[in-house]
Amino acid sequence: PKIIFSGIQPTGVPHLGNYLGALKQWKDMQDTAHHSDRLFFSIVDLHALTIPGNADKLRKNRREMLTSLLAIGLNPERSTIFYQSSVSQHAELQWILSCTASTGYLSRMTQWKSKLSQSSPFQSDQPTISSPALKHGLFSYPILQAADILLHTATHVPVGSDQKQHLEFARECVTNFHSAWSIPSSRPIFPYPQTISLDSSSRIMSLADPTKKMSKSDPNPKSKIFINDNEGVIRQKIKSALTDSVSKVVGEYDSVNRPGVANLLEILGGFSGRTGREVAEEIKGESLLGLKTLTADTVVDGLAEVRERFMLFGQDTEVNRQRVREIEDIGTRNARESAERTMEKVRRAIGLS
Ligand code: TYM
Repeated sequence: PKIIFSGIQPTGVPHLGNYLGALKQWKDMQDTAHHSDRLFFSIVDLHALTIPGNADKLRKNRREMLTSLLAIGLNPERSTIFYQSSVSQHAELQWILSCTASTGYLSRMTQWKSKLSQSSPFQSDQPTISSPALKHGLFSYPILQAADILLHTATHVPVGSDQKQHLEFARECVTNFHSAWSIPSSRPIFPYPQTISLDSSSRIMSLADPTKKMSKSDPNPKSKIFINDNEGVIRQKIKSALTDSVSKVVGEYDSVNRPGVANLLEILGGFSGRTGREVAEEIKGESLLGLKTLTADTVVDGLAEVRERFMLFGQDTEVNRQRVREIEDIGTRNARESAERTMEKVRRAIGLS
């Protein structure tokens, strides 16, 4: 049986990149899972602490992310949905893994560098490991992510392609841990988790600048579509998406010379599981305006149910509050049980019990 695990940071309503790159896959995997498969989806609030300072906002964002996960169609009776911080074993395993994780490897990873240069854009030097602005939590972020995955002995991890490096690191953590504690390969504690990433739409780009990925931290609201945007807003944002003047019609799929057009093709294809290339072939010769209209129609249709459920579950009513509490309780209970099962083995293997 498969154990499927993935996580999302509670840093605002998910955007189209999150949806097409990851969340839609979560829902599809849930709906096609074998009955013996198990699914865990975590709202990774400990990771969100790498942007510290606003407790009320984090409280609100956690709830809003739970609403978002219900809106995309996760079923709490089938999938365990939980806050990472409710299961303290995540932090416990992170420490244990950090004792066998390589600092050199972490220092070569890209996320802390890009986050650091984002937060201080006027810094002229390359961000370095000795920069005072680099906090240890951001640096060791990938170890906590590895702990998330390994704690639930996940076999399959559906993510967008920006997470591939982190998954590679998680596999490295398996090797390091087993080797340091002489765990025989015939009786491993952790399986090697496999990255599940789509060929298409695993990297959706910003609508305002298609050379950058669509990102929650981009302050420009026109750069992204949120899963709860209404029809008018979606149409407006796609209409103003930056394309090009290379040609007035859609030709070959060309993400290098026509990144804006390629991005719309990816978005269009993402809703029906086709690659941007396939879509380009199909609508070759269509005008750019036609492409935008088609894309807007598809996004509006594709998100209609999600938006409806978002409105429904997001309402501040007693019924919803009660339901959220129940989902939180059940998720915490299931995730703790799964976590403790692994931790008992881990503690025994390293002499802590
Ligand atoms: P996060 O919260 O940044 O994003 C959640 C998911 O959305 C995907 N994604 C995208 N996919 C396509 N195009 C984009 N423009 C785009 N932007 C984001 C991400 O790849 C991700 O799958 N480190 C993780 C959270 C995490 C996690 C984990 C994931 C913590 N522990 C364990 C998997 C397993 C993150 O920050 O995702």
